[in-house]
Amino acid sequence: MQESQLNPDVLNVEPSALRKFDHEISADPKIVKLTLGEPDFNVPEHVKEAAIQAIKDDRSHYPYYWGIQELRDAASKYYGEKFGYHYSANQILCTVGATEGLAATFKTLFQPGDGVIIPSPAYPVYKAMAGVNHLKPIMINTKENGCILTASQIQQAIDDNADLKIKGLVLTDPSNPTGAVYSEQELADLVPVLKANHIWVISDEIYGELTYGVNHYTLSKWLPDQTIIINGLSKSHAMTGWRIGFVFGPTGIMDQIAKAHQFMVTTPTSIVQYASVEALTHGQHDAEGMRKIYEQRLAYLTTELDAIGVSYVKPKGAFYIFATIPAKCHQDSYAFARKLATDYHVGVIPGEPFGDSHAIRISYASSNDNLKAFVAALKAYLATFETVAG
Ligand SMILES: Cc1ncc(COP(=O)(O)O)c(C=O)c1O
Repeated sequence: MQESQLNPDVLNVEPSALRKFDHEISADPKIVKLTLGEPDFNVPEHVKEAAIQAIKDDRSHYPYYWGIQELRDAASKYYGEKFGYHYSANQILCTVGATEGLAATFKTLFQPGDGVIIPSPAYPVYKAMAGVNHLKPIMINTKENGCILTASQIQQAIDDNADLKIKGLVLTDPSNPTGAVYSEQELADLVPVLKANHIWVISDEIYGELTYGVNHYTLSKWLPDQTIIINGLSKSHAMTGWRIGFVFGPTGIMDQIAKAHQFMVTTPTSIVQYASVEALTHGQHDAEGMRKIYEQRLAYLTTELDAIGVSYVKPKGAFYIFATIPAKCHQDSYAFARKLATDYHVGVIPGEPFGDSHAIRISYASSNDNLKAFVAALKAYLATFETVAG
C-alpha cells in the first residue's frame, strides 16, 4: 500500500513533538527530566483497592457506552460540589482520558473549513485535532496579557477572518503550558462576544483542582448552552495511565458527542470505571496533598528563577512554568533545550510546539532533587554566556 493512498489529514499531522523530544533526550541514562505533564505520585490506595475489587467482582462486561450510571452520578455530584458544574448524569459522558473527550467533541461540533480560536501558547493537541478535522486554527497570542485571552482579541479575530465561520474556541484553564488561570471577571468578560457570535467553547479544565492561591471558575456558569467541559482524573488523582475523562455539556449536543465516542472506543475500561466511582465518592481530598507539594515546588522554582533573572508567566495553576530564554543566549527553544539536555543532563520541553520558540516549559511534576538539579544546570549553563560576553 502506497502512503499517498492514505488519508492526507492523518499523513500531514505531526506526531506529538513533546513525546518526540522527551524520547530523544531519554537516550541519556543520566538525564533528569522535567518534561512530561504527568504527576510523579501514585494512584491513591483506596482507588487501587477498588480496581482490584472490581476485577474480583467480575466487572468485566461491556459497560453502557456513556459510562456506568454510578460513575456519571458520582461525577455529577463531585464536580458540582467542587466547581459548581450543573450537570445531571445524562449530560456526562465518560471517555478514555480527556484526550478522547476532546477528539469526540471536535468531531461533533465542527465541519470542515470552520475556524477555531486557540489562545497561544497552547497545548499542541488542539492544533493537531483541528488539522485532522480539516479546521482552520486561529492562533491568538496572549502573552501580552499574562496569557489570558480577552474579548477584544476574539472580536479582532472575527473581524480579521470575515471569510471564515468561526465556530469554536478552546480555552485551557488552568493552562498547559503557562499555568495561567482565569479570574471570574476575566471569564465573564468573554461571554458577550461569544454569545453574540454563537461560538462554542471547549473548556479544558483538566487542571481545575491544581490552583495556587486562586479559585478555579468555569465558563459554563455564564455560557451553559455553548460550553462543553473536558475534565478527568489524570491530573487530580494521578491516574494518567488509567485513561478516564469526562465530557459535560447541554443535552442535545451531548447525545451527538456520545455517538462520536461510541464509534471510536465504545466506552472506557470497565475496571477503571468502577475504580473511578471510588475516586469520586471518597477521593474528594486526594488532590489536596499533591497540590500542596506542587505549590511548594512552584515557590522554590520561582524564587530560584527570580534570583537567576529568568522571566516567566506567573503560574497560578497546573504544574508548569513557561520561562523565557534569556536574550543573551541567542538560541531558539530547541537549541537551548537540547544543549541543556546534552551538556547538563537536564530535560525540559522546547516552547516551539506550544507556539513560542523563545521559551521552555518546565514541568515541576518532578522530585525536589530533580528540581535542584535543574536549577544548578540552568545556572551553570547561563553562566557560560556571561563568560562569552566578557
Ligand atoms: C491541557 C490538557 N488537556 C488534556 C490533557 C490530556 O489528558 P488525558 O491524559 O486525560 O487524556 C493534557 C495532558 O497533559 C493536558 O495538558
